[in-house]
Amino acid sequence: MVVFLVVGTRPQIIKSAPIIQKSIELGLDMEIIHTGQHYDHGLSQVFLEELSIPVPVINLGVGSGTHIFQITEIMLRLEKYLCKHPASMVVVPGDTNSALAGALASIKIGTPVSHVEAGARCYNMKLPEEATRRIIDHCSDILFAPTDKCMINLTNESVMGERFLTGDVMYDVFLEFSDRVDECDILNKHNLDKEEYILLTLHRGENVDDPSRIRNIITGVQKSGEKVIFPVHPRTKRRMVEYGIFLQDSNIKVVDPVSYVEMLTLLRHTKGVLTDSGGLQKEAFWSKIPCITLRDETEWIETIEMGVNTIVGTDSDRIARTIEHVCQRNTEIRSKFTKNPFGDGEASRRIIEILKTRIGDGYSE
Ligand code: UD1
Repeated sequence: MVVFLVVGTRPQIIKSAPIIQKSIELGLDMEIIHTGQHYDHGLSQVFLEELSIPVPVINLGVGSGTHIFQITEIMLRLEKYLCKHPASMVVVPGDTNSALAGALASIKIGTPVSHVEAGARCYNMKLPEEATRRIIDHCSDILFAPTDKCMINLTNESVMGERFLTGDVMYDVFLEFSDRVDECDILNKHNLDKEEYILLTLHRGENVDDPSRIRNIITGVQKSGEKVIFPVHPRTKRRMVEYGIFLQDSNIKVVDPVSYVEMLTLLRHTKGVLTDSGGLQKEAFWSKIPCITLRDETEWIETIEMGVNTIVGTDSDRIARTIEHVCQRNTEIRSKFTKNPFGDGEASRRIIEILKTRIGDGYSE
């Protein structure tokens, strides 16, 4: 029986690329189910095409809505599909509503679940992603942890499923597509000079749905006076219009969402990254670029311990000061990238090899 990989959002589509590729190479029958949580071309199709991901067997077309709407609708639509097309395993990467709904629907119809990126924790239960990843971890049969710390978190919580340290699939895809950066013309397109700009992304609900937090962040970035490129998530764009935040004639250049290779290119040549994304913190790390995290905590604590990522929250003065620090001490911070806690680029191979043995062991019965 087939293994389904359930994805729905931009970062999950990126994570699916190396997993599905390895499944083809190693002969595991795996198909993608797209929930439709992300539906804009620039958040979904662009990545499927650029990363040569096989067309999903179905798009459940759930679209936007409240968390409960998304989770329940995905579960209902997935239940219908999985009942008609039984699977030996459902694999969910990450911590989104699509991942949670994928895991719950599978469990409820009796299909085992594997979680990719298991054990990530930020210890703030107010964030929807934290609750989501905890629930998924505790109901998964197989857990694939990206780092030692994630493994420790799973052990400390006594999760029931089998745990494996695999490394991070995002590092696999990062390595595979890094050499495409040389062919990408995004810098010319936006009039950017190498090492002369800062890269900003912002999309998390706790930041963009709170007018004072997003205003503070933007004010801090403006105060820094640095040239900033800001590929904007549609959610953030909508909120900025609602709150009357307009950035024409400022040091912040707002552009449409960029593709994966465009993002890697922006990362390669920036002085620093300002972000509230979990994925981009890691991609900045692998690009050996200092990161400033616009949150109150992070899952990727190793990057903080190494002194290459700074948590600044949303205080505008602190943000401006930290940007200045990162620009002035750039060479010194870059010398601190001395190890990589996220594996060796072989996470997807390990995941597929483990899945093959476990499915053979009778999980499908
Ligand atoms: C989701 C994940 C988040 C992840 C992020 C990556 C959840 C709860 N959140 O956040 O963990 O970091 O994806 O991007 O699963 N929208 C569009 N077009 C789209 C998709 C969304 O315009 O294709 C807008 C809609 O206004 C929508 C809003 O963005 O209401 C939020 O979208 P949603 O999928 O709920 O969450 P994200 O913010 O993308």
